[in-house]
Amino acid sequence: MCGIFSFISREPSSIATVLVEGLQKITYRGYDSVGVSVLHNEEHHVIKAVGNMDQLAPLMPKKSLQAHVGIGHIRWATNGSVSLQNAHPVASKHFALVHNGIISNIDDIAPRLPKISVLKGETDSEVVVHFCEHLWSNNRSSFFSLERAVELLEGSWALAIACTKNPESLLFARKQSPLIIGEAPEGFYLASDIGSMPDTVTELTFPEDGDYGFVNTKEIIVYNNKKEVVRPTSPHVTTQQTATKGSFSSFLLKEIHEQPDVVRSILKNNVQKTESSSFTPSFAESVRIRTARMHLIACGSSYYASLLGVHWLEKIANIAASPYIASEYYWQCAEDKMCAFISQSGETADILRLFSEPLKPKAKHTMCLINSAHSSLSRLVPRVIPLYAGVERSVASTKAFLSQITTLFLLACAWGGEEGRKHIAKLETLPTLLDTLIKGSYDFLATNIPPLLDINHYIFLSAENLYPIIVEGSLKMKELSYITSTAYTFDNMPFLHIHPHSMLIIVLNKDHEPLAHEALALALQDHAPFVIVITNGPSDLIPPHCLHLETPECDHLVFPMLATPFLQMIALVVAEHRGSCIDQPRNLAKSVTVE
Ligand code: M6R
Repeated sequence: MCGIFSFISREPSSIATVLVEGLQKITYRGYDSVGVSVLHNEEHHVIKAVGNMDQLAPLMPKKSLQAHVGIGHIRWATNGSVSLQNAHPVASKHFALVHNGIISNIDDIAPRLPKISVLKGETDSEVVVHFCEHLWSNNRSSFFSLERAVELLEGSWALAIACTKNPESLLFARKQSPLIIGEAPEGFYLASDIGSMPDTVTELTFPEDGDYGFVNTKEIIVYNNKKEVVRPTSPHVTTQQTATKGSFSSFLLKEIHEQPDVVRSILKNNVQKTESSSFTPSFAESVRIRTARMHLIACGSSYYASLLGVHWLEKIANIAASPYIASEYYWQCAEDKMCAFISQSGETADILRLFSEPLKPKAKHTMCLINSAHSSLSRLVPRVIPLYAGVERSVASTKAFLSQITTLFLLACAWGGEEGRKHIAKLETLPTLLDTLIKGSYDFLATNIPPLLDINHYIFLSAENLYPIIVEGSLKMKELSYITSTAYTFDNMPFLHIHPHSMLIIVLNKDHEPLAHEALALALQDHAPFVIVITNGPSDLIPPHCLHLETPECDHLVFPMLATPFLQMIALVVAEHRGSCIDQPRNLAKSVTVE
């Protein structure tokens, strides 16, 4: 998805280099063009490239211009094709801007421009920059031009704007699209993603919906509806998470290996057995309110995590829970229920729209499970349970998914009374079991899954509480390998879909013998050329021609957490065989931040 990184330096400095470094950190979000602009000697020096950062690098000047202000952007084309003209920054005579979001009333705004012919590209963002220019020609104030523009624009935006008439100042505005300002000794950074903030940043300011203003070399001034406002700040805590892959071939593989530590972190931060409680004070407070019915609302992998959450909430806590894809949710009869939002980024537009006009929250109790601290969602929902997965750089989610299912399991245990709490012991052994499972598995799979390049159909099969993880496994296969793959429960499997050009991946609870027989008989009969069976511990039922992957012996309730890394690694190995781009798959967004 699109990303903004801009910088205003207290002293003239090599702005373009700083912009490239910042943008580099958000490339994991997925993008198809990139650009920077430096304001120097009353001129916008714009450099843009279609493709990735490697295409931008040769275009950068050997000697970086020394300036105060620069804006940078990675674009994921949604409104207008992928082209140099549509790439950001977009500039007019005096203004240059970068924009995330979509302006919905561009057909009303464009005719206000004196000359439509100035528009060279196809984007709403280009109309906005010329609109600011037009307003400026009347009032000669960049600030009042922005104020008037945000009054007339409709839709969503995060904007960083440079104006040649204010070489030591950067304008900004946000509505329904994230924008954070970071203050450091060397200056101020404006970014759409907290992960791009340099370690030097000490304090973060969070503009709210409808805010606009400017940052100069000394201060941040925020306005809303023509009145100056003060917005909350918070110290910037650097995660010290390495931005490098270390000895791993991809961030994805590294993040799969981080999963045992993610579970350790979840336990350390939430579980603490004292005389009065099994939980840390913050987690105990988060689960203080229990409702008999719940709605779980999410998108993509987070939605699949919710499916598993629903199962555990019903089985362990006796809570009637229903899962919803956020775009299909309209606060259905939500007054008496707990509405839980699950999101890695906390920036998914389909979730955020539920908090704005005309919908507005209609639930008495809301909570969210979020990985990205300081995200927009965490500021909208009072009860926030952090996921402790750390920064996930690979576009395809792995450790965040595991953190979501583990935390949902913990929630079910917490709401399950005495009986529920007994299940927590099953989580306590999980990190060590995951360590054992993950160690050596990748090498084993890379050697034992043949490069079946002619197989274009992958089928995942399972039953009971394992369905959510095979849909997620199937999604990982699609995301990483661009191959068609489908997940079925045994009962609903259209048998004819298994043919010699399909690969079958079966996840089986080994105690579920009748199903196991059925599945394996199927696999043999219908000649799938390659069959992988994952079971929780050893099983005699698996015919020798299948690749049998055993997780350590475990209770069926936590088997999903152990089978998940196998499914992630299978998708990774198949993708590597096919030469796919592992960390930034083609046309895949980490989270969808525009509606
Ligand atoms: O940040 P979120 O969890 O809200 O994002 C939801 C989905 O966009 C996300 O899970 C997406 O499906 C990932 N590409 C999964 O790998």
